[in-house]
Amino acid sequence: MNILLLGSGGREDALAWRLRQSPSCERLIAAPGNPGIARWAECVAADPCASATIVELARSSAIDLVVVGPEAPLVAGVSDALRAAGIAVFGPSAAAAQLEGSKGFTKDLCAENGIPTARYVRIEGKDAARQALDGFEIPVVIKDDGLAAGKGVTVAMTREEAEAALDAAGDAPLVIEEFLAGEEASLFALVDGEAAVPLASAQDHKRVGEGDTGPNTGGMGAYAPAPVLTDELQERAMDEIVRPTARALAAAGTPFSGVLYAGLMLTADGPKLIEYNVRFGDPECEAIMPLIEGDFAELLLGVATGKLAEMPLPKLADKNAMTVIVAARGYPAAPTSGGLIRELEAAEQVPGVTVFHAGTALSNGSLVAKGGRVLAVTAVADTFANARARAYRAVDQIDFADGFHRRDIGWRELARETV
Ligand SMILES: Nc1ncnc2c1ncn2[C@@H]1O[C@H](COP(=O)(O)OP(=O)(O)O)[C@@H](O)[C@H]1O
Ligand SMILES: [Mg+2]
Repeated sequence: MNILLLGSGGREDALAWRLRQSPSCERLIAAPGNPGIARWAECVAADPCASATIVELARSSAIDLVVVGPEAPLVAGVSDALRAAGIAVFGPSAAAAQLEGSKGFTKDLCAENGIPTARYVRIEGKDAARQALDGFEIPVVIKDDGLAAGKGVTVAMTREEAEAALDAAGDAPLVIEEFLAGEEASLFALVDGEAAVPLASAQDHKRVGEGDTGPNTGGMGAYAPAPVLTDELQERAMDEIVRPTARALAAAGTPFSGVLYAGLMLTADGPKLIEYNVRFGDPECEAIMPLIEGDFAELLLGVATGKLAEMPLPKLADKNAMTVIVAARGYPAAPTSGGLIRELEAAEQVPGVTVFHAGTALSNGSLVAKGGRVLAVTAVADTFANARARAYRAVDQIDFADGFHRRDIGWRELARETV
């Protein structure tokens, strides 16, 4: 089949790499892609959020399947436009993408369907918010209702911090919710209407600094699977969280199609939903793709064409994968652009390693940094410790003077293994 992939980050490089290896993939086009993706796909300079452009590109290239990487085209309704044009698309409608686009929407859906999540109120306006705050203990969590690129959440450890967050929000719609204690894990499920099957689990590191300190980022590293999400807890999360969500959306006439990424808190009372995303995580995707067995393109086409229930269950290799992000100095506040990157071939000589491109560009024939997160160095091995060792051996080969990375990706897992 001919496949069109939308996006230009490390997640999309990993998707392109995995799609390219699928026996059913004949031609792979990426819009707009990046220099890493160009290794596996023909890159076309097109705006992935421009519905009419994407529909036209899909038509003129006889595309059988469009795979949407990031959330922005989904929220913008690109998948609706493609479906209306009769083109199969892996990615939910704008209506179903509200699961990510509005935290209030998801919280209400949970409340209506008995899905375990933190107790909450939706609020608009400063005075109402202050009053609502009285109904919660400290710590308390305050969230922007809409998409905020990972910058819309305050976990307030004091009443003062909580009030400052409310002041900063002004009259924007908010969710105030109870603080949940536990360890976080991500569950990626394929969903097609009422059918929902687990694909993979992962854990990531959001803070920029070692020891999980400093400002939040898009993610500085990830590993898959997440052993803390045991088979039993995963099945519980599927039955208590993901499947009721799929049924509720189907019943509302806005069925979900694509990958549903459940951010879970593993509490003493079992898994509770922190939030949904309606696409693969980045960098979790980079750690998951190398573990997926079988014809991945066929699997995504099955989801896109309403056949998930008839497909064999997705299978993961019995291995561990780790991704270490190499970011541009100054990230996340003010990343330095244009730094020269060399020796990626040497990094990929390390067994089990692939270097995905997250934010790179070609400048006069040289590879340079373009963006905050630049490379997603991914290693697979038979144990978690070996995957980690390989990933760092590869990172150490790379010559990128303007870059930095965390040395402690996977510390929780390593601590568990050595106990
Ligand atoms: N109810 C909660 N209790 C404890 N921590 C939370 C809660 N909600 C969110 N967090 C923390 O804040 C982070 C960001 O919140 P999340 O809802 O995932 O928003 P986003 O990813 O859009 O920034 C989570 O990964 C988690 O660490
Ligand atoms: Mg999140």
